[in-house]
Amino acid sequence: MAMVITGSDPDAALDALKTHGVVVLHDPDRTLDGFVELTDRIFDIDPYHSVATRERDAVGASGTNVATVNKGRDAMPLHRESSFLPTQPDVVTLFCQHAPSRGGQTTVCDGVALLAALPERTREFLRGEELVWRFVLPIERWSVLFGTRDPAAVPAKVAELMARFGPDTTYEFEFDDRGNLDGTYRSPFVTKTFWGDTAISTSLLYHYHRQGPFIAKHLHRVTLSTGDPVPDDVVHTVERCAEQLIEDVRWSTSDVLLIDNSRAMHGRRAIVGDDRSIVVRLGRYRSGIARAA
Ligand SMILES: [Fe+2]
Repeated sequence: MAMVITGSDPDAALDALKTHGVVVLHDPDRTLDGFVELTDRIFDIDPYHSVATRERDAVGASGTNVATVNKGRDAMPLHRESSFLPTQPDVVTLFCQHAPSRGGQTTVCDGVALLAALPERTREFLRGEELVWRFVLPIERWSVLFGTRDPAAVPAKVAELMARFGPDTTYEFEFDDRGNLDGTYRSPFVTKTFWGDTAISTSLLYHYHRQGPFIAKHLHRVTLSTGDPVPDDVVHTVERCAEQLIEDVRWSTSDVLLIDNSRAMHGRRAIVGDDRSIVVRLGRYRSGIARAA
């Protein structure tokens, strides 16, 4: 599924994102500055800073929003980046500063192909269901995400960010008496991608399997619209089908990987050595790039 292009033509990259959802741009001479220039042609810098969390460190010039990928060495299940927050990016972009000699492949899975591959029963169940994701954000998180420490400024930010999505995708929130933002993100499992295809791109598997020190799992509550957990057999069926379709991206130094977050999920294989250096930059498609109706 991932298309490989030689060079750094942003129009070719966008075409590939539109048709494949995932593209590798190969150019052995590319630098970190070149990565920033390329991605600036594809998306606008997000209004939030994705860097200042305990999971990531800033890299390179300030204001460019380049960060290390999530810390830790363990495998990362497939997920849709920040799928449970209004700040979720349209595009996840990764730049390989140094390719690992073994292990540490980034994984991708096409949500259009996954939806088609599901057994009819599971597909129909998911078509009629939504994922309800409650996540409580302490002030040090929400102030970074929304670029303000003023709770009164948050509703306008949320409205602007959520205008990208259809009316069936909502984010409701309130501030508790300790200043935490208690937010609930609702979205159908099966949604239109940015480019108008129908896909399943979700963080369901991530939530069910992700453990370790770099996710605050206790802050999340994930259910169906009924308040019940997603049935185990549904999770396992989605996982089994995704495993058939998963693709390992074998990095070469200076490669860029672009992932349309509305269509394709990503993860990683366990990191083996100490030579893997990959950085991330998240964004929303530039305003001139039209979302499919
Ligand atoms: Fe991610």
